[in-house]
Order: sequence, then C-alpha cells, then structure tokens
Amino acid sequence: MIYLDHGATSYPKAPGVSAAVANFINDASGNPGRGGHRLTIAASRAIEGARVTVADLLGGDPERTLLGPGATFWLNTILCGRLGPGDRVVTSALEHNSVMRPLRWLEDERGIQISVVEGISPTGVPTAAEVQEAVNQAPTALVVLCHACNVNGAILPIEEIARRVAPTPVVVDGAQTAGALPFDFSHSGLAAFVCSGHKGLQGPSGTGVVLLAEDFVIQPLIRGGTGSNSESEDMPVVLPDLLEAGTPNGPGIAGLGAACAWLADQTIEAIRHHESLLIKRCINAMQEIPHLRLAGWAKAIPQTGVLSFTIEGVDAGELAAWLDRERGIALRAGLHCAPAAHRRLGTFPTGTLRVGVGPQTTEHDIDALVTALEDRCR
Ligand SMILES: Cc1ncc(COP(=O)(O)O)c(C=O)c1O
Repeated sequence: MIYLDHGATSYPKAPGVSAAVANFINDASGNPGRGGHRLTIAASRAIEGARVTVADLLGGDPERTLLGPGATFWLNTILCGRLGPGDRVVTSALEHNSVMRPLRWLEDERGIQISVVEGISPTGVPTAAEVQEAVNQAPTALVVLCHACNVNGAILPIEEIARRVAPTPVVVDGAQTAGALPFDFSHSGLAAFVCSGHKGLQGPSGTGVVLLAEDFVIQPLIRGGTGSNSESEDMPVVLPDLLEAGTPNGPGIAGLGAACAWLADQTIEAIRHHESLLIKRCINAMQEIPHLRLAGWAKAIPQTGVLSFTIEGVDAGELAAWLDRERGIALRAGLHCAPAAHRRLGTFPTGTLRVGVGPQTTEHDIDALVTALEDRCR
C-alpha cells in the first residue's frame, strides 16, 4: 500500500512504537501514581519518561507538558476553560473543527465573540499584521490559530503573530506541524501549543499533548481521580494532576515517548527537508496535469507535507475510492473536518483530495500517485 494520508494520521508508526506499547501492556500495566507496588512504579516511570522525551523534542517544560487523548481534547480544555461571557477571540479562516466547534458552542452558550481574520493571501493565511489589526480593534481575551492548515498545508507565521499581539495570549493548534516542522516552544512566545501524538509525532492513536507557558493558567475540562490528594473532593492544584484526571492511556503514552525518541534521533530538520522535497515534487508534477487545481496554494507561502487538489469534472470521493481499489494508494477525500477552511478556499461543499506525506514516504510513492492521476484523467 502507498500511504499518503499523513494529514489524518501517521502510518507506519515510528520504529519502536509498537514494542513500547506492548512492553507497557506486558510489563508496566499498573495504574500510575495509584499505590506503591512495582507495576504502578513501572507505569509511572514509563509515563514520566515519555513526558520528558516529548517536552525535550518540542522545547516544553516537562512540568507544564500535559498528555491526553488528542489535540481536540486539549483545544476544548483551553477554550472552554478560559473563555467566558463577553470574551472576544481572534482566529483564522483556516481552522479545523477542533477549534471552530468549541468556539461556536461558546458563542451560543456563553456569548463569546469570534473575529475571523480572512487573510488576503489566496492560501487564506493571515499575515501577522492582519492578525494584529484584528486584535487591536477591540479588547481580545485570546488568539487561537492553527500552525498549519490541515486542508492546504499552508503555514501561519505564529511566532511573529505572538510577538505583535503580546500580551494577548496566543494558543496554537499544532496538530499538523508537531514533529514535521522544527519548533521550540520555549522561544515561541506562545501561551500554549497543542498537538496530536498520532500525526507528525508518529505515535499511537488516542494521544495528544499541550505545552503551557509558565504564566498561562487553564482549568480542567474533566475532574476525577489523580492518585494524589485523595482526601480532597477538589482537584489538586499542581500540574500535571490538575489537568490529567483519570487513568491515563499508558500504552499510548509509552508509544508516543518511543516515537519522539526516534524523531529526536532522526532530527525534525531532516524530516522537514525530506517532506518538503516530496511535496514540491508532487506540486510540480500536478501542475502539469490538465484540469487539476491545487486548492489554496501559492508559491510564496511555506507549506507542510500536505496539499489539497480538485480535478474538474471528477468526484473527489470516487477518485479516492478508485485510487485505493485500483492502485493501492490511500488518501482522503472530503472536507477533512475543516468546513471553514474549505469555505475560505472555495472548495465547499464538495471538498478536495488531500495528499499528506510522512518520514517514510518515497519519491516512488509520489510518482505512483501522479501516474495514477494522469491515467485516470486521460
Ligand atoms: C489542524 C487539526 N487540528 C486538530 C485536529 C484534531 O486532532 P486529534 O485527532 O489529535 O484530536 C486535527 C486532526 O485531524 C487537525 O488536523
């Protein structure tokens, strides 16, 4: 199989991930922090070791690096925990529903105000000046932006935005960039950086991370057992316990730790270089295919290893099914959980086909896709 759906999740996982998951299940399946027998200690060690590895890779403070079920969970935690009646939020037109759905819910239920920066670029990427202008229009509680759009892969200048809008806190959805773009949270100026563990970080499904700046306080979305302060019916105030209620996904976290150790060894710079070459190869070849249109693409805007395209007169869903069935090529068609981005890019409601490359994608994979598209469109 040729797997080109890394925008959705990574496959295959990094070497060492499945062994780490199995080792946790077989040798460390105690409940971490709950009790003092050897299995709980082994579980705690595996999880805390993974936390340090993840934090080191992304430039976070391990004490403020929280592990949970995914980017969606942490975005909901931050948005629902920070925003109340009358608060104003500035966001982009390229957001995933993990941002837009909680924001729309907060708009309906708590009366927050949402200001969407459309951006003049055909990619929908706002400039830092455009975001700053939106923030300056009225008191703003929070800026929330994707680091890169999951539809067209376009990268937002998040560090420059954070500098310009300071001290307004900037929360970034790095689901599409963590592990794929070199990034150092400690020098980013961001209040929080959220990401999936299962995409560019190459870890198991059901894992996600948030890195919090020292002065950025959030409230838990869920409350429950932590193994600490069990005499109290209130949540402990210390991290990670405050934000990690319930038995954690130990096997997933152990796998994520192994994946991040592999990434550190490969270096994210090398992975970025590899994926950039592949996506450029894909763009160059696709530009030669008649009736194929790259969605929200512009040469001047840097992008991840993700792109979207449409072919005039061809149904995206049918083409994806044909590629899978006839050529063994896996990619995704549709709206990619980002209707707002498709509206902005002019591909709503039919959507696009999305290509996403990963560390183990080869030039041959890209060439096979291009040949298949040429054959199909002939
Ligand atoms: C930009 C973006 N944000 C958030 C998410 C949600 O991530 P998770 O699956 O880790 O909850 C995704 C996944 O598709 C995404 O692409």
